[in-house]
Amino acid sequence: MTGRATGRIVVVTGGARGIGRAIVDRFAAEGATVVIGDLTDPGELFLQSDVAAGLAVAGHREWVPLDVTDEISILAFSESVAAAHGGVDVLVNNAGIMDTRALADETVAGWDLTMAVNLRGPFLMAKHLVPLMEGRADPAIVNIGSIEGLGANTFHSSYAASKAGVHGLTRALAVELGPAGIRCNAVAPGWIDTELNRGYVDKHPNREQAVADLASLHPVGRIGDPTDVAATVSWLANPDAGFVTGQVVTVDGGRMTRLPIPASLADDA
Ligand SMILES: NC(=O)c1ccc[n+]([C@@H]2O[C@H](COP(=O)([O-])OP(=O)(O)OC[C@H]3O[C@@H](n4cnc5c(N)ncnc54)[C@H](O)[C@@H]3O)[C@@H](O)[C@H]2O)c1
Repeated sequence: MTGRATGRIVVVTGGARGIGRAIVDRFAAEGATVVIGDLTDPGELFLQSDVAAGLAVAGHREWVPLDVTDEISILAFSESVAAAHGGVDVLVNNAGIMDTRALADETVAGWDLTMAVNLRGPFLMAKHLVPLMEGRADPAIVNIGSIEGLGANTFHSSYAASKAGVHGLTRALAVELGPAGIRCNAVAPGWIDTELNRGYVDKHPNREQAVADLASLHPVGRIGDPTDVAATVSWLANPDAGFVTGQVVTVDGGRMTRLPIPASLADDA
C-alpha cells in the first residue's frame, strides 16, 4: 500500500492519539500529507515514538490547532489548510468524546457538548472543508461512527444518539455531495483499545481477565486495535472504493453479528 496516497492531502480530526493517530500514521505510511486537527499538539513525543516503533513515514504530518465545537476555529483551520496545501482530498471526521451518565444525571450541558463534538463537529467540518474538496480527484469524507449508532450500552443516551446521528449525516452527505464527485462513508468501530474506553478495563481488579472476557464476545477472539479501523478508513478513502458511498462499515470483529444465547444453551458451553 506504500505510495497509494502520495500527493493526497488528508485531514484527520482528533488525530493526536488513539484511532485518529492510527489513521494519521496509515495515510502517512501511504505517502499522503496529513493535517492533524486536534485540541492537543501531538508534539515531539508523537514523532519520537515513531522512531522507536520503526514506523515508515513516507508522507508528511503536521498539526494545526482545531476545536471542532467552535465554528471560528474550524474556519481558521480551513483557511490554514487552504493556504498551505491549496485543497483537501480526504476529510476524516474522527474527533469524539464519550459521556457516560444515567438519564436522570444527564444535563443539557453534557448532552450539548457530546453533540457539539460528535455530530455538529462533522457537520461543520464538512460545511467548511467541502469547498476545498470540489474539483479534486476522487475526494472522500469518512466519518467515524460507532456500533453504538446501531446498538447501545447502558448510560450512553447522548453518545449513542450522537453516533446514530453521524450515520444519518453520512447518508445525507453521500446523497447531496455525490453529484459533486464527493463520496461519504462511515466506519462503525466496535471495542477498540484506546484511552476512550481503557478506563472501563483499568478499573476492573483483574485487567487481564476483563480483556479476556471482552475478547470472548467477539467471533474473531480479540478486541480491536486502532490499526483495524485505520485500514478500513484508508480503503474507503481510496479510489478502489469509488462505487461505495453512503455506507456504514462495521469494524467490530463480528461482535454485532453474533446473536446472544444463554451460556447454558450454547453448544460450546
Ligand atoms: N475506542 C473505541 O472503542 C471506539 C469505538 C467506536 C467509536 N469510537 C470513535 O472513534 C473516535 C476516536 O476515538 P478514540 O477511542 O481514539 O478516542 P480518544 O479519546 O483516544 O481520542 C480522541 C481524540 O479527539 C480529540 N478531540 C476531542 N475533542 C475534540 C475537539 N473538540 N476538537 C478537536 N479534537 C478533539 C482528542 O484530543 C483526542 O486526540 C471517536 O469518534 C469515538 O467515538 C471509538
